[in-house]
Amino acid sequence: MKRFVKAVCATGFLFAATVPDSAIAATGKDVFEAKGCGGCHYTDGPAKEKSIDDQLAKKGPELFYAGSKFQKAWLGKWLADPKPIRPLKYNSMTEENPGDHPKLSGVDVAAVTDFLMSLTSKDVAAGKVKPKKNPKGRQIFTKKMPCSGCHQYAGRRNKLSGGRSGPSLVEAGVRLNPDWILAYMMTPEAFKPVKMMPVFTGLLSGKDMLNISRHVASFKPKKKKK
Ligand code: HEC
Ligand code: HEC
Repeated sequence: MKRFVKAVCATGFLFAATVPDSAIAATGKDVFEAKGCGGCHYTDGPAKEKSIDDQLAKKGPELFYAGSKFQKAWLGKWLADPKPIRPLKYNSMTEENPGDHPKLSGVDVAAVTDFLMSLTSKDVAAGKVKPKKNPKGRQIFTKKMPCSGCHQYAGRRNKLSGGRSGPSLVEAGVRLNPDWILAYMMTPEAFKPVKMMPVFTGLLSGKDMLNISRHVASFKPKKKKK
């Protein structure tokens, strides 16, 4: 895709040019480095963690597959106004998330969003998961498997339910790409080779992997009653 970009050059003349997305992503990469984001996040894959020490040394989640994991609209909003995703501080089991993530503003938001969305993973197949609440998925999430013991979600009557040790999945359907959820459940080692979350491959059938992914992807804000 190409975009029409207008800019005023140093001499004050307005010029217009068509630049490829890759060039926008390159400036987003510059902003990412200039703002110190790279000090806590790595953006070149594959996954680098080989031991629990590697994981504990990380100051923030890896972003080398951000373009496959996140929904673009959510990412742009979050970078401008970040709200805690993990109830607890990153890599901690006891401390609360301080909620002090650096913010971006102005043109930096779109530039960094484009850069992060350009980082995709070949391990995520597109078009596999259609978000849908389903009884099988709900049963796996709340009863059959311990998902809800570690993840917050909106339960009955929209009541905040579930555990706090994993990232919150409240409104996960707005934040996460449904196809990434399935890929993460099926091949977690491609994304997080060392992690706190148990591996469910072998415990859940292919069909149930799809059911649980569709279900989590259906976690969206409640529609307001008219
Ligand atoms: C001091 C370390 C630090 C810096 C600097 C930092 N981040 Fe983060 N980032 C974190 C932590 C910790 C989290 C997890 C936050 C949470 O769960 O609420 C995070 C989460 C994120 C996420 C969501 C990732 C996920 O998998 O949930 C994105 C996207 C992100 N940061 C982008 C950026 C960008 C862009 C910058 C530069 C403006 C930046 N970060 C600077 C530590 C940092
Ligand atoms: C023992 C606690 C635990 C259980 C049980 C658990 N998870 Fe997780 N989950 C985590 C943690 C911690 C993470 C963060 C990454 C990591 O360390 O694996 C995570 C990450 C995730 C993510 C990605 C969220 C993000 O923003 O990065 C999804 C989706 C997810 N889990 C779904 C599930 C589902 C579905 C189940 C049940 C089949 C489940 N989890 C069971 C702890 C758990």
